[in-house]
This record gives sequence, structure tokens and C-alpha cells, in this order.
Amino acid sequence: MSDFSSTSTAARLLPGGPVAERILTEVAEGVAALRAAVLVGDDDASAGYIRIKQRQAARLGFASPHVHLPASASQADLHAVLVDFNADRGVHGVLVQHPVPGHLDYDRALQVLDPDKDVDGMHPVNMGRLALGLPGPLPCTPAGIEALLAYHQVPVAGREVVVLGRGATLGRPLAMLLAQKRPTANAAVTVVHTGVADWPRYTRRAEILVVAAGVPGIVRPEHVRPGAVVVGGGVRYEGRRLLPDVDESCARVAGAITPRVGGVGPTTVAMLFRNALKAAGG
Ligand SMILES: NC(=O)c1ccc[n+]([C@@H]2O[C@H](COP(=O)([O-])OP(=O)(O)OC[C@H]3O[C@@H](n4cnc5c(N)ncnc54)[C@H](OP(=O)(O)O)[C@@H]3O)[C@@H](O)[C@H]2O)c1
Repeated sequence: MSDFSSTSTAARLLPGGPVAERILTEVAEGVAALRAAVLVGDDDASAGYIRIKQRQAARLGFASPHVHLPASASQADLHAVLVDFNADRGVHGVLVQHPVPGHLDYDRALQVLDPDKDVDGMHPVNMGRLALGLPGPLPCTPAGIEALLAYHQVPVAGREVVVLGRGATLGRPLAMLLAQKRPTANAAVTVVHTGVADWPRYTRRAEILVVAAGVPGIVRPEHVRPGAVVVGGGVRYEGRRLLPDVDESCARVAGAITPRVGGVGPTTVAMLFRNALKAAGG
């Protein structure tokens, strides 16, 4: 727990691994003979993510058939697969691995998917449910961040959270989630982006700073309030090299910080399976 008066030179680490393990243990206990479908477009970078998710699915006892469409697949081909999955009562959860090849429209495909099978929590209906506080699959990365903070006993309620980035997968839904009336949320949330030229003015006053810009090294120590909790959500890949938004030197100023590798990522995958279990009525 950060008290904002920390003078230590190394921030406490907030790893996502143990959070993910706890969630996945709960999920595994709930899995009987469920099936989760994973659909991948013909994208090399995505193949690795699919493999990780399938390994995890097997470990948890989910069946995870996946349809690998060729790069030449049309939007109609993609929709046809989703329509089949929608109708298949043995398939409880479906995800369209992002990004899809350039000629395909991910958002349109998502709208074809049955919102109750949307384990990514990204369907417009599920975003609407989130906005209205109705039950439904939550977007995985934001839900994972809430779980990570709760697991590490970082108080969120009543505190000032600043989110850098308002993207649809992370910043925007996270802001909605952490502002909800719940003991592990209930925060005063501010969202900053390219429209706020002096965003450091906001990040410097954040008790909890979540970085979700996808701009390597955008947050440096001078942008962080001493003793603050820093969560690095944004990453970019250069080949296989992971380039995080949060410069590692921020650990000198922060009270607690997610590690460069093994922070938000594992909790995102864990939430995917929690959504899959819930989609199956578990
Ligand atoms: N770890 C995980 O499991 C995980 C999962 C999902 C996503 N991510 C990562 O999270 C990041 C965000 O994802 P997303 O889909 O939400 O991204 P996105 O749609 O690209 O949104 C990026 C946001 O950052 C803002 N931004 C970019 N450059 C900025 C700058 N120089 N100054 C201020 N604001 C800036 C943008 O502002 P504007 O709106 O003004 O353009 C935008 O709101 C990505 O790096 C993604 O890879 C990680």
C-alpha cells in the first residue's frame, strides 16, 4: 500500500502473475466440460497470443477449437464463422483475435458476434452494459487492472486516478470501471489524451496513474507523483521486443509499480477465462 510519503528508492512491484493465478484457480474450479472457441485471422503476430490462450485453455479444462481463416478470407467468410459459433450451443465463448488483416473490419465482425459469447467484453452491447452498470462480460484489460489493484491491496475508492489514454480497449472502459460504485473502484477518475497538451499537470497529481497510450517511454519520473501507484498498460512491440509506455526509471519515484513484464498482461488473459466461465453459466 502506498502512503505517498515514500522516500525509498525502489517502488514495490505489483506483479500480475499471482493475481492471474488466483483468478485462474477459481476459474478451473468452475470448469466442468465447457468449450471456448478462439478464432484467429491470418496474422503472424497474433499466432503467439492464440497459442498462449490455447495452452491456458487446455490447462483449465476448456476445449478451445479455433478457426484459422486464410489471409484472403472476406468479411463475409469471417461473419459466417461467427454466425456458426453464435448458433452452436456447445460454444460458450468466442473471441476474434485482434488485429485482423487490413482488408477486414474488426468492429463490424464484433457486431455480428452474440454479445453473451463475447469473452473479450468488447461488443458494443457489452460496452453499453458497462456504461450502465449492467452485468455482462467486462473488457479484459480494464477488469484485470481493477483485480490487480485489489489483489495488491491498493486502495482505489475515493482516490484520484488519472488514466493516460482514452482508447476503446483500455483507457475509456477502465475509466468507466474505476468510477463505478464498488469497494474496489469508486475513484475520482480523470482521463487525459492528445487533446490535453499539458497532461503531465494531471498525471503529477495522480495517486494512481494508469498509462494506456501505446507510446513507448511516454511516462518518465517527472510525470509521476512521488509515492504514487503506477500501472503500465500500454505496450508496443518492435519485433519481439516489448516497449512499455512507462519508463523503468519511474520505479525510483513511484510507491508501487507494475513490472515491465508480467504486470497487466497475465491479468488480461485470466479475465478472458473468467468471462468464458461466466458465459457458460459458471
Ligand atoms: N497489456 C495488455 O494486456 C494490453 C491489452 C490491451 C491493450 N494494451 C495496450 O494498451 C495501449 C492502449 O490500447 P488502446 O487500444 O486503448 O489504444 P489506442 O486506441 O491507440 O489509444 C491510445 C490512447 O493514448 C492517447 N495518446 C497517444 N499518444 C499520446 C500522447 N503523445 N499524449 C497523450 N495521449 C496520447 C491517444 O489519444 P487520442 O485519443 O487523443 O488519440 C489515445 O486515447 C496499447 O499500447 C495496447 O497495446 C495492452
